[in-house]
Amino acid sequence: MAKIAICGYGIVGSGVAEVIAENADSIARNAAEDVSVKYILDKRDFPGDPFENMIVHDFSVIENDPEVTVLVETMGGIGAAYDFTKRALLAGKSVVTSNKELVATKGHELIAIAKKNNLNYLFEASVGGGIPIIRPITQCLAANKLDEVYGILNGTTNYILTEMIQSNASFEDALHQAQTNGYAEADPSADIEGIDAARKICILSDLCFGKHVNPADIKAQGITGVTTADVEYAKRLNCKIKLLGRALRTGHETATAYVAPHLVSNSSLLSNVDGVMNGIVVHGNALGDTMFYGAGAGKRPTASAVVADVIDAVKHVKARKYLDWDDAPDGYFTDSSYVSSRWYIRANTSLQQIGWAFGKVSFVTYTGAAGDEYAFATEPYDENTILKLTSGMNIRSMFRILD
Ligand code: HSE
Repeated sequence: MAKIAICGYGIVGSGVAEVIAENADSIARNAAEDVSVKYILDKRDFPGDPFENMIVHDFSVIENDPEVTVLVETMGGIGAAYDFTKRALLAGKSVVTSNKELVATKGHELIAIAKKNNLNYLFEASVGGGIPIIRPITQCLAANKLDEVYGILNGTTNYILTEMIQSNASFEDALHQAQTNGYAEADPSADIEGIDAARKICILSDLCFGKHVNPADIKAQGITGVTTADVEYAKRLNCKIKLLGRALRTGHETATAYVAPHLVSNSSLLSNVDGVMNGIVVHGNALGDTMFYGAGAGKRPTASAVVADVIDAVKHVKARKYLDWDDAPDGYFTDSSYVSSRWYIRANTSLQQIGWAFGKVSFVTYTGAAGDEYAFATEPYDENTILKLTSGMNIRSMFRILD
């Protein structure tokens, strides 16, 4: 019988306890032994909760109990979560987490501690919620040289954009709905400002290209600047606006990553990834493109990935060697401004100025569009060039087009 402890009895942590109790038989079959929760650490008490008797408030109870072999860290943040993870690994327990902030910033260090102690630090739930993506990248695609990974990595913002596109909902109403459904982070600015997606694209970049990218180094633009006018113009360009995280090799030993809203063609698979769903495209030199799709947030989808890692940790008591990446040498991470793409621009400017800057562009409009602006799509430019070309224009929105 494997005993586990859960740190953080929030949405994901409670989902983990629920799934372990509900699927006890199939989990036991897959893990080759019974798996049960012995402790749940939280600051709060949960009177009347089915797991209330397991609640403890002192981490040392878990740390000092040799019967507990796996710690599930679903606290979030990089304070106590980092401390408890390290202490658990040093006490001989494998750790499973959904905490993308911790994995993105300290994952390399924690994996090293786990390996040194012949334990596992597993984080399938940190990217894409319930979608299998970490193992496919590191195992199933291991024969490839991976050169690009991009996708819809945040369920909350995809839900908000989908509501704006399909139901003309206001940004505020759609955000409130996402929070009610338990998709949003405690502080929704991590979702809507692109910070959560930035952490996830860093983890994907680390795994795909094998070198650490610090979330603090990447440009993250969220969706707060996307308006209903942009949604309408995008429709006339046969596109949908999606928040994408993207990481790509920029040379033999260099790579970049960024997060930004993009216009995505209606003919691409990603444009049909709606609501809270996530979609991640990985490009490998042998396989070409492959896309992973599924529920990217929410209690039970995320718990599904966490519990699969628990099973893996129980079954493979020794360290899983495939999960790792190196420190990046100086100059490895390059500025994403040099990535070239076509651009959608909405500006209060004159036709003459657009002509001078770009020559020919593709204009779009719609019934009800503001009379004092033009919207158009350009040819490909890098960001530095586009900023120079538009310097005299009163830009209202400017997003990359994914080709
Ligand atoms: N807030 C995150 C999202 C949760 O909306 O995608 C899953 O990481």
